[in-house]
Amino acid sequence: MGEKKKGLINLENNPQLQLLDHICCELDKADVNTYQQTVQSALMNRAVVEGNELIVFGSYNYAGLNNDPRINEAAKNAVDKFGTGTGGVWILGGYNEIHKKLESEIADFVNKDRAVIFGSGFTTNVSIITALFGQGSKDRDAIFYDNYAHHSIQEGIQLASHFGAARFRFAHNDMAQLESLLEQNSRYKRKIIIVDSVYSMLGDIVPMPEVLALAAKYDSAVMTDEAHAIGVIGKTGRGIQEYYGLKKDEIEIVMGTFSKTIPSTGGFAAVNERLAEYFENGCNQRVFTASSTPANTAAALEGVRILKEEGEQRVAKLRTNIDHYIDEMTAAGFNLLNSPTFRTAVIPILVKDENKVMQFSKMAQERGVFIHPIRFPAVPMGQALMRSCVMASHTHSDIETAVRVFKEIGKELAII
Ligand SMILES: Cc1ncc(COP(=O)(O)O)c(C=O)c1O
Repeated sequence: MGEKKKGLINLENNPQLQLLDHICCELDKADVNTYQQTVQSALMNRAVVEGNELIVFGSYNYAGLNNDPRINEAAKNAVDKFGTGTGGVWILGGYNEIHKKLESEIADFVNKDRAVIFGSGFTTNVSIITALFGQGSKDRDAIFYDNYAHHSIQEGIQLASHFGAARFRFAHNDMAQLESLLEQNSRYKRKIIIVDSVYSMLGDIVPMPEVLALAAKYDSAVMTDEAHAIGVIGKTGRGIQEYYGLKKDEIEIVMGTFSKTIPSTGGFAAVNERLAEYFENGCNQRVFTASSTPANTAAALEGVRILKEEGEQRVAKLRTNIDHYIDEMTAAGFNLLNSPTFRTAVIPILVKDENKVMQFSKMAQERGVFIHPIRFPAVPMGQALMRSCVMASHTHSDIETAVRVFKEIGKELAII
């Protein structure tokens, strides 16, 4: 108590910490703090959270693959064969035959020549975006990115800008603004446009054919983040390229994660041979970090294998559930932003009020449904929302129950 800390380690002077303290204190006072609760079972269409079994409506487990016995078995077998650690960084002894197989399977899945895997999706974005820029970037390189691009993309861009790359942000999915930025900045020799395939907060889809046409017109490369697209869009769940029927290599960099539809952790960048070699050796966040554990790599590999085999039927079931949920929620009068058009597995419920989303989350839990609030800074102030996520494993009655609970709460909080 009262111990004085000096200089940088005096966290009392950290404005971010003070803000978070203030927010948590307010939430605790109002008894609506649903952050970082303890989950006590596998997260599937149901999960035990802080002692109560809830219907899960906020998980990325879109294809319902988490806790699949085949995936669990693969992870256990990998531990038996390789142990629990890899004992090395990727390029120095830490790269085993499961890593290699996963790279070739995921590259094949997204129709690219090569893939390089990383410890997480977040690291993948930061790492590859940073690695693309460096000495000589100033006045030569420019990055164009969507305002709603995932935080990890924006963090990578922030780092790249320290190396001198210019950055230009366009309003969400606004192709006219993207074009005008490209036109005004055509003097830059090396350009890249970075987008998400499916936006993680809004659930809408990038107009990729238009992005590609602009990229061709202004001589730019394109990178997309498939985190919420794999296992969700395209007939067999192969993401944006399948969804729009694109040809191989129209998109230069296809990035994705193993933490959503594929129930593990890790990320990948699927690219051409040359870029893969460069990323393997030139990404600091890959060179100077231990490789992914055998268990989660094997889980990811089995997840990709199952998705190849069962993707079409899982996507079809997911689609039926998404349609059921969206139709009922729309009929109930909720504002689901553009979800009725795009019909991905991320379905925002617009609430606007920063406090009401916390109340919504707490009330939903008390009535048996696990759903998460999204507030500033994840979305702009005044655009707070509940992010509902539909899974292929939801039953008809899970959806009916969730909609009934959301309707009750929507009326009590005067949202509908
Ligand atoms: C669009 C997007 N990209 C990247 C990430 C980071 O992925 P990971 O959780 O695997 O680090 C996320 C995570 O939520 C995401 O939503």
